[in-house]
Amino acid sequence: MLQPDTRYKADAEALLALIPATSLATAFFDPQYRGVLDKLVYGNEGERQRERALLPQMDEAQIGRIMHEIGRVLRPSGHLFLWLDKFHLCEGIGTWVTTSGLETVDLITWDKGRIGMGYRTRRRAEYLLVLQKPPKRAKGVWTRHNIPDVWEEKAQRGGTHTHGKPYGLVASLIESTVPVGEFVLDPAAGSFVVREAALAQGRHFLGGDLVYGDAALPESGLALPETAAAVETAKGHKK
Ligand SMILES: C[S@@+](CC[C@H](N)C(=O)[O-])C[C@H]1O[C@@H](n2cnc3c(N)ncnc32)[C@H](O)[C@@H]1O
Repeated sequence: MLQPDTRYKADAEALLALIPATSLATAFFDPQYRGVLDKLVYGNEGERQRERALLPQMDEAQIGRIMHEIGRVLRPSGHLFLWLDKFHLCEGIGTWVTTSGLETVDLITWDKGRIGMGYRTRRRAEYLLVLQKPPKRAKGVWTRHNIPDVWEEKAQRGGTHTHGKPYGLVASLIESTVPVGEFVLDPAAGSFVVREAALAQGRHFLGGDLVYGDAALPESGLALPETAAAVETAKGHKK
């Protein structure tokens, strides 16, 4: 059976297939897309870019299927936090969301506190698109109201993953949207920062990574207990 808090070494779609429909309050997804590397061919990609290009890449259709599955496992009014770079923010992600049933409700800019590459301006930010499964609402499913939409936090230098995301922001969003004792999903977890933040706050983690996980997927899925919060959410949905 799928075990909570385990670092699965698994394909995102195989893992998602083991999770029941409408069972989770929150998911994070940070796709390994080729977008930027394809469009901006740097003469000298540098060590971090070489490291990045070696990771398995997800194509548009695969990202769309993963988004569709995330839409399936989220419960009504559940949130997806989707990491985007400037290229995807500007060019759009229409094909990723088409069949997911998710709708955009907010955007957070992560100010990394130091500049990176760029032909014209040099990048200092990444973006976190906040999507929600209908019905769209904040009451009862977003409990912290002091999270700014520009979040300053230093990127971890020499962290365990070339794309490591900010622990403090991830932890705040989990605290705001995942009731204590419930699960947060990250099917392409990289450094497993979502797991670390979830466990530190008494929440549970479901997720894995094709490269960085270390446990094999079981054959059977997860039997999720019906939590008080899930029942409350379902009641709210019927109103
Ligand atoms: C952008 S990184 C995630 C970084 C992560 N958010 C963090 O904070 O460390 C994307 C990850 O997706 C993984 N990956 C690529 N294809 C995958 C697949 N089909 N299933 C699961 N993980 C995959 C890569 O190994 C990489 O670690």
